[in-house]
Amino acid sequence: MISDSMEKELFNQLNHEFHSAYLYLAMSAYCSNIEFNGAARWLKLQYEEEILHATKIYNYLIEQGVHVILKEIPQPPSEFGSVLEVFIASRDHEQQMTARLNVLSDLALREKDHATYNLLQWFVNEQVEEEASVGEIISKLKLVKSDGYGLLMVDNELGSRAAPAATA
Ligand code: FEO
Repeated sequence: MISDSMEKELFNQLNHEFHSAYLYLAMSAYCSNIEFNGAARWLKLQYEEEILHATKIYNYLIEQGVHVILKEIPQPPSEFGSVLEVFIASRDHEQQMTARLNVLSDLALREKDHATYNLLQWFVNEQVEEEASVGEIISKLKLVKSDGYGLLMVDNELGSRAAPAATA
């Protein structure tokens, strides 16, 4: 049994995960359009991973007997300026997600809702990995700057990302 306030916050988090998916798909479309096909693949896989995150929260709410109310998903941007700007936007977005998850974890602890707290800790750990991988990509893109060969190498590496394992 989860509280009304936690239910409301999990509806919001479910929407944020779907918004994350939508944002990564928009980023992927931008990269496809400028022929950074490796980055486009990486970002499309991230879109799939965010759908799995949303589904994990959805399944949890259903298991808790909650009538899930889905909210409108905000429109993501279509222009990002460069591949580096895409990944900077991704990092900023993930940092905001981490901050939200920390607030939710605090609420779960205050409410002694250990089941939801456990669910949220899975997401908190996932954020550490996501922020680290995006940070690494930003470092590489900053290193190569506008060097064509370097950008090609980074794009090739991004294109080798493996598909996410099912999390839900
Ligand atoms: Fe589901 Fe990238 O946070």
